[in-house]
Amino acid sequence: MKFFIDTANLDQIKEAQDLGVLDGVTTNPSLMAKEGITGDENVIAHYKAICAIVDDNVSAEVISTTYDEIIKEGEALAKLDPKIVVKVPMIKDGVKAIKYLSSKGIRTNCTLIFSPGQALLAAKAGASYVSPFLGRLDDISTDGLQLIEDIRLIFDNYGYPTEILAASIRGPLHIVSCAKLGADVITAPLSAITALLKHPLTDSGLATFLADHAKASGK
Ligand code: E4P
Repeated sequence: MKFFIDTANLDQIKEAQDLGVLDGVTTNPSLMAKEGITGDENVIAHYKAICAIVDDNVSAEVISTTYDEIIKEGEALAKLDPKIVVKVPMIKDGVKAIKYLSSKGIRTNCTLIFSPGQALLAAKAGASYVSPFLGRLDDISTDGLQLIEDIRLIFDNYGYPTEILAASIRGPLHIVSCAKLGADVITAPLSAITALLKHPLTDSGLATFLADHAKASGK
């Protein structure tokens, strides 16, 4: 399973990259705004800075909502760096644009997926990734993980190469559940990724090992 970090914060991206398990980054307009990145030039410079840190898979989201504009913006984003994946919203013009961009060899991530039917349409249009938003479904008392299971079944039934990128992850258990269900990728905040490291028995076990070693060595 690939691990992406869901942030536009360069320090956190570097920290995840240093851990050695990072396969990519997802951003969105809200995450960019959270880092105070505004204005076309700053946004472009920020995407380039992210691409300089990671090996591949930097999702850059279009803010256009019409076919022609999505294509224009998507092509411009893709030209910034071969690591860019153009993130396109699940709307009618977005699906059409995904079809066009994928026919031109530009990788796409169809975002804001909340139903199996939306994922199916995006896969048919040739999306490289679909991003079902687990946490936001859980927030409205709907089973986000069930959506991952349903999309996995559909994609496997027909052998769609589109990868399931489980998004809107809220914590480490979401990551583990996605791995059990066969999601191809998770994108999560740094805190959810590093939480996977933690277990109290690991901490107490290591403390005992080190104490026994120190005692045996007469320290
Ligand atoms: C996906 O690519 C989105 O950036 C993201 O996962 C949204 O998550 P949120 O619900 O925490 O905003």
